[in-house]
Amino acid sequence: MTGAVRLEPVAEQNLEPLLSVAVAEAEPADVMPPVAAPTGWSHARREAFREFHRANFGGLDGHTRTAMYAIVAGGEVVGMIRMGRRDEPDAVEVGMWLGRSARGQGIGPAALRELLHLAAAAGMRTVVADTTRENRGALSVLEKCGAKLREDGDRVYAEISLEG
Ligand SMILES: CC(C)(COP(=O)(O)OP(=O)(O)OC[C@H]1O[C@@H](n2cnc3c(N)ncnc32)[C@H](O)[C@@H]1OP(=O)(O)O)[C@@H](O)C(=O)NCCC(=O)NCCS
Repeated sequence: MTGAVRLEPVAEQNLEPLLSVAVAEAEPADVMPPVAAPTGWSHARREAFREFHRANFGGLDGHTRTAMYAIVAGGEVVGMIRMGRRDEPDAVEVGMWLGRSARGQGIGPAALRELLHLAAAAGMRTVVADTTRENRGALSVLEKCGAKLREDGDRVYAEISLEG
């Protein structure tokens, strides 16, 4: 399975499949910023999901300075991984999510490794992330990809060097 993981830039042709996975298999809080809308996957929240992703179609050099990729495994869209420029010119911050049925199979580490290649090709030297101490899945993925972890209260800050 992991050998077949690839990333496709999020664009109109994979936006509806991505939304379908999010609605069926993820919590809004895991996949998009909070919006003022009825709880759950209301019509307003689905529309906000589309607009949130469309705003990032410009990629690293667009106005949001963020590139988003659909994670494709076994030919199906199963989640999303993104990198956003930080203030430092050679650093990006990463975030990702998978639908519940795709978790625990090594797809997250495979997708992050693909993203590290894309970040290096874009001239980045450092990839950072932050999560909570409770998010064992995220911490496991980051460690598998060589991140150095630093705890600060409930937060854990991760740094992956692309040099060497
Ligand atoms: C974090 C996430 C991307 C990990 O990807 P993944 O492909 O599941 O990663 P792995 O297959 O390497 O599994 C990682 C850990 O998840 C745990 N896990 C196993 N099965 C799982 C399942 N069905 N559901 C959730 N977690 C599971 C295991 O602890 C595993 O750790 P181990 O391999 O050290 O035993 C995924 O769990 C996810 O989308 N979570 C919700 C969104 C999120 O928290 N994103 C990160 C925000 S910083």
